[in-house]
Formats: sequence, C-alpha cells, structure tokens
Amino acid sequence: MCILSCRRINTISCDHTMRKSSLKPSKSSVHEIKGTKKFDDDDTNAISSSSMISRSVSMSVGGNKPRMVAEDVIRHGNMGSSAEVYTFRELASATENFSLKLLLGEGGFGRVYKGYLKTTNQVVAVKQLDRNGIQGNREFLAEVLTLSMVQHPNLVKLLGYCADGRQRILVYEYMENGSLEDNLLDSSPGRKPPLDWYTRMNIAKGVAQGLEYLHDKANPPVMYRDFKPSNILLDEKFNAKLSDFGLSKLGPTGGEDHVTTMVIQTNGYCAPEYEQTGQLTTRSDVYSFGVVFLEIITGRRAIDNSRPPEEENLVAWAKPLFKDRKMFKSMADPVLEGNYPVKGLYQAIAVAAMCLQEEASTRPLIGDVVTALEYLSIRNNEDASETDDQAAQDE
Ligand SMILES: Nc1ncnc2c1ncn2[C@@H]1O[C@H](COP(=O)(O)OP(=O)(O)O)[C@@H](O)[C@H]1O
Ligand SMILES: [Mg+2]
Repeated sequence: MCILSCRRINTISCDHTMRKSSLKPSKSSVHEIKGTKKFDDDDTNAISSSSMISRSVSMSVGGNKPRMVAEDVIRHGNMGSSAEVYTFRELASATENFSLKLLLGEGGFGRVYKGYLKTTNQVVAVKQLDRNGIQGNREFLAEVLTLSMVQHPNLVKLLGYCADGRQRILVYEYMENGSLEDNLLDSSPGRKPPLDWYTRMNIAKGVAQGLEYLHDKANPPVMYRDFKPSNILLDEKFNAKLSDFGLSKLGPTGGEDHVTTMVIQTNGYCAPEYEQTGQLTTRSDVYSFGVVFLEIITGRRAIDNSRPPEEENLVAWAKPLFKDRKMFKSMADPVLEGNYPVKGLYQAIAVAAMCLQEEASTRPLIGDVVTALEYLSIRNNEDASETDDQAAQDE
C-alpha cells in the first residue's frame, strides 16, 4: 500500500535537485582563516598533533582540502570568525558564578546556564562539561574547531569555548524559546501554550534542513547520535536549530570511529539497524527524524511509560495505524483540537511512515523530506474549505 503521496513527493523531488545544486558550500575558502587568538592553556598545545586533527577537522571547505584546513588550524589556533576563546573568568562573570538561578537545564554532558557577555553585549548559553566525562583535550579542541566550521541557520551556533585548566566549557547562541521537548511534550500545569500546526511543520522543516546540511555538506557526513526533542532548540520566532551534533563524539563512550559506535541507549529514536549493529548511517538519522516528526504530529513521547503498554512505544503504536487512513485523525495531537489541514495531516503522517521504514534503503533521503516539508509548512487557503473526502481523494 502506497501510504505516501508519491506523486507529490516525486514532483517536488525534481525541484529539490535543482534547488540543491544551487547551494553553496558554507565556508568559501581556507584563506578566510584570520586566527589571531592563542589558546591560553599550555595543555592546548597538544592540538599540534596533526594526524589527529586531520582526521577530525575534515569538513568540506570549498573542496577537498581537509589537510590544508588542519594545517591552518594548527598554525593559527582558531578558525577565523568562528570560535571565540573565552577565559574561565569571563564565563564565570557572565553566569554569575554559574548560578543555579541561571540554570537552563542539565543533560548527559553537564549543566547549561544562561549567560550575559558584557564585552559583546550578548546573551549566550554556557555549557559546562562534566570534567570526568569527556575524552582527551586534543579531541575536545579538534571537535570544537570542527564544529565552529559547521554553520547553517538550522544548527545552533557554537560561539566559542573555554579550555582553561581542567575546565571544558562551550558557549552557544542562546535560544529564546528553549527546547522542542519543553514546547511539545511537557504536560505539567505550567506548560507553554501548544504549538499550532504550521509552527510544527516549520519546526520539522528546520530540523530536516539542519540534518540535510550535516549529511550533504559535511565531509565525512556528520551523523547525529543523540537525536531527541531536547536537542532541538527554538529561537524567538520558533525556528528550529539542532544542537549537540558532534558533541556526543566527545563523550565517554565515543571512539575514533564515527561510523560504527556503541549504541548509547535504546531511547525510542534509534533505527533498528543501529540498535542491532551499532552502524550509524545517514538513513538511521532519517529514521530518528521520523520518530521526532511523529512526536510533532501526535504530541506523544517516543517512549512514554505512563501510557497503557500497547501505547508506550510511539512507533509500535503508530505502525498499524499507518495502514488505515481512517485512523489518521485519531493520531493528531488532541491539543490541536482539530485545527489542522486534513490533507496536510495525511501527508505528514505519510512522510513519517516512510522515514520509519524498517529497511533503511527504502527510507527517503533527508533532502526529499525537506522538499515535502517545504510544501507542508506553507499555509494554504484551500485548507480551510477542504473536506475529508477531498483530502482522501487528493492523497
Ligand atoms: N543554546 C541554548 N539555548 C537555550 N537553552 C539551551 C541551549 N542549550 C541547551 N539548552 C537547554 O538546556 C537543556 C540541557 O541541555 P543539554 O545539556 O544539551 O541536555 P539535553 O539535551 O539532554 O537536555 C536543554 O534541554 C535546553 O532546555
Ligand atoms: Mg542537548
């Protein structure tokens, strides 16, 4: 049974190919490197280990020049306009000594604080990494330098870092509306107002665009190992940006091989082949995207132990429903109170179903998902007057 509106996806795939070919690399040239700052920490001289850097710093920078990039990193110690080097004192002052009243959250790598940098008049998010949980210093710095080269409107920008003494701190742009988790899945009494349908589709589009960049522009492709709604952050206009891509490679379970990795945990987002073999591919990210997209549509968590056993696992609950179009409306988040275009709902569920195919090779490329979501996130006047019958016919 063809659940997806193949006609629509195929048509827009052609546009997508055209669009993609006009995309420019995110960084134009290694000659843009202006690096003026030096690392403050003796320890950081370890970064001159060129073999490690050339493995780690290998984003596509306007061609096949990863070695040159690595050499420039070593020579200059910083990537031009990208990563700023902060002192511990600066960041302590920005966060009022890492005050709990400025705590934004705490994850597997440490605590995140809201901070204010007086010198640049910037509000930032300061992530103080747990000192015992992070791999070597060289890897930290190489990874930071790599991440500072990855720039896209749908990736949270790493502004800089601090490696004073034993401190390892990352400074990111501050995302005003917090995480997708807070906005979508929080059921506590003080929860944020529900996201409307088109905001949801726009968030999904942004996430897919961020992933597309990581898959298609980064060389080798960057795969997300920790895909979940708390790593999708929302700016003041509810645009979605991915965070913590790359960071998981620094964690205690990370190895040098970024392709076959230990499965961190079975958290409801992992593709079946990743769970079984530890093999991470761009298609396993598409599966994880499918899980998050299903959360966006349904407002249900990937794993929710408070639900009846047959509904605890979102994908297991949804799979039989994918086969029956009559059930699609029952899948929509009840807090939407029916305020969504029926046709759009059907198509969104079809896209999620394709991303969640068991067989990795039958999942769409993230670029095709982007194209579908560009269409689904446009407010369409016809939606208001459409009937279920029309929606079913159009499918
Ligand atoms: N750049 C940021 N801007 C605003 N809030 C952030 C930012 N980064 C992280 N946060 C908040 O801090 C929380 C903890 O982040 P993190 O340490 O990455 O752990 P996790 O992703 O497991 O929640 C996030 O859930 C989010 O609410
Ligand atoms: Mg995170």
